[in-house]
Amino acid sequence: SVKELENRVIEIKKKFGTRLMIPGHHYQKDEVIQFADVTGDSLKLAQIAQETKDAEYIVFCGVHFMAETADMLTSPYQKVILPDMRAGCSMADMANIKQTEAAWSKLQELFDDTILPLTYVNSSAEIKAFVGKNGGATVTSSNAETMLAWALKQKKRILFLPDQHLGRNTAFKLGIPLNKMAVWDPIEQKLHYDGKREDVAIILWKGHCSVHEKFTVKNIEHIRSKYPDMKIIVHPECTFEVVQMADYSGSTKYIIDTIQNSPKGSKWAIGTEMNLVNRLIQDNPDKEIVSLNPYMCPCLTMNRIDLPHLVWALESIDKGKIINQIIVDESIKEYAVLALNRMLDHSS
Ligand code: 13P
Ligand code: SF4
Repeated sequence: SVKELENRVIEIKKKFGTRLMIPGHHYQKDEVIQFADVTGDSLKLAQIAQETKDAEYIVFCGVHFMAETADMLTSPYQKVILPDMRAGCSMADMANIKQTEAAWSKLQELFDDTILPLTYVNSSAEIKAFVGKNGGATVTSSNAETMLAWALKQKKRILFLPDQHLGRNTAFKLGIPLNKMAVWDPIEQKLHYDGKREDVAIILWKGHCSVHEKFTVKNIEHIRSKYPDMKIIVHPECTFEVVQMADYSGSTKYIIDTIQNSPKGSKWAIGTEMNLVNRLIQDNPDKEIVSLNPYMCPCLTMNRIDLPHLVWALESIDKGKIINQIIVDESIKEYAVLALNRMLDHSS
């Protein structure tokens, strides 16, 4: 029963004490997040992985790329476990290393040595290593502006992987017009742009988040007509049009802080993942909060981590036969950590 599973989590947590840590991303289910020792967005969870020294076992409640990052930022005696290996990220899967290398050589032909690569942390360790090797850094939605500005001080052009929307929204916020942005299509292996080739400053990888793309201009129009005094806040993984029409946009942390700090009686339509929106509704009964898309938008891979999988992972530690350990190859780790550290050094 659920009660039995919950009791097992409590028992094992008690037994291992600080030798065990359960980080939980804000998009995780309540049944899992109730047992998280720390919750955070992808930046905070990476920072915590880097700082934690006691935890020998880190049972990561989030998705695969986050667990890889945690493995790379912890010491060899610390083991990172992902309760369900199927908890991937469809966006991270939109860029593989072969496609990236092919794109890079084509782009070098077009633009010589004028490009610096940046990758959203929502990418494999291999992509992070590629970026690190070529002088670039990772970014998260909370520091994308800082990192893009940092990158543009070094090279004239940026290749931004793998989320075109975060890349476009961030570049536009920094004052770069749309006609200076191009889109690299990894399937066609072709660069698409409207203006002049020599004017291209930002090369956006054609990837997206299938959850955040579900918030549409139609959804915004509906809210504006039905609830004219409702404010709209969205994650920058939403499309450019949606971000432009919304009242506010920002990372998961920004969304949480903005809602929590808003006055009693505030009215919000939120464009981000469903578990987080539901939690914000529960935690803020004095405010009127709805999902921008009335059908709600779950992240199916985040949801793969459920209570039975959490118990399974914890039991494996208790039995001394751990399952699903995430180990990034040493050769990849070296350069990927370089890319991660360039970001962490610029983040508070
Ligand atoms: P943040 O946690 O950086 O806001 O990222 C959102 C996301 O989609 C995580 O997969
Ligand atoms: Fe990936 Fe989007 Fe899910 Fe985040 S919400 S894990 S970006 S698919």
